[in-house]
Amino acid sequence: MARRTKIYEGKAKILYEGPEPGTIVQFFKDDATAFNAQKKDVIEGKGVLNNRLSEYFMVGLQNIGIPTHFLKRLNMREQLVRSCEIVPLEVIVRNYAAGSLCTRLGVEEGTQLPRPIVEYCYKDDALGDPLVTEEHIAAFGWASQQEMDDILSLALRVNDYLSGVMYGVGIRLVDFKIEIGRVFEGDYQRLVVADEISPDSCRLWDLETGRKLDKDVFRRDLGNLTDAYSEVAKRLGILQNNATSIKPTVVN
Ligand code: TMP
Repeated sequence: MARRTKIYEGKAKILYEGPEPGTIVQFFKDDATAFNAQKKDVIEGKGVLNNRLSEYFMVGLQNIGIPTHFLKRLNMREQLVRSCEIVPLEVIVRNYAAGSLCTRLGVEEGTQLPRPIVEYCYKDDALGDPLVTEEHIAAFGWASQQEMDDILSLALRVNDYLSGVMYGVGIRLVDFKIEIGRVFEGDYQRLVVADEISPDSCRLWDLETGRKLDKDVFRRDLGNLTDAYSEVAKRLGILQNNATSIKPTVVN
C-alpha cells in the first residue's frame, strides 16, 4: 500500500496530499482539545460526525453561492478539499454573548446582541490566538483591505445561512468561527471558506431548552459530546432518528 504524504497535523484534523495537484485530503480525528490543548481527550465518533456535518454546511454554502474549499466527501472520516493558503485569522461571528466575550466584557451569557459582532483572532497557538483589530491585520499584512472587506461580507453571509439552517431545526446559532483560504486560479486569487464548520467551531443551543449541542459540552464537562453532535446531525437529517451509534447508521 502506498504511503500518503502528511502535510500537516492539527489538533482535530490531519491534512494529506490529495490525488491531484491542488487537492488535499482532510482527515477528521476523534481528538478533542480545549483551552489551547490544555484539556484533551479522544471522543469516539466525533471525527465521523464532524466530517459529515462539515460536508453538509459547506455544500449548503456552495448551493447559495458562497465559495468553499470543499470538493467531496471521500469516506467516513475524510474529505477532498482544494488546497489553499489559509489567512492567519480566526473569524468569529457572534449573535448572542457567550464564551470569551462574556469573560472579556462581563456580559451575561445568552444576552442577545443588537447586531452580529465580528471579531478576528490571530492564528498562533503559541500566543493563544489573541484577539486583534483590523489595524493589526493591516499593519502586519495578514490580509489586504480588499480581503478584509470580502472576509467581512463572507462571514456575515455564512452567519445568515447557518442561523437560518439551525433555526429551522430548533437550534440557536450563538456564535461560530470560520477560517478563510486564498485559492489561486491562474492570474487570479479568490477567497473561500476553508477548514471546517462543525459543532467544534460553533455554539449551538436548543431553542426551547437551551441545551448545549456543541464543544462547550466537552469544555465544561456537561455530558456526552457525541450525543450532542448526534442530536445536531439527526435534526439535520444526516443521521437516522433511531440511530444509537453513528457507525452503521450514517445516512448515505
Ligand atoms: P470564544 O467565545 O471562546 O472566543 O469562541 C468563539 C467561537 O469560536 C465559538 O463558537 C467557538 C469557536 N472557537 C473555535 O472554533 N476554536 C477555538 O480555538 C476557539 C477558542 C473558539
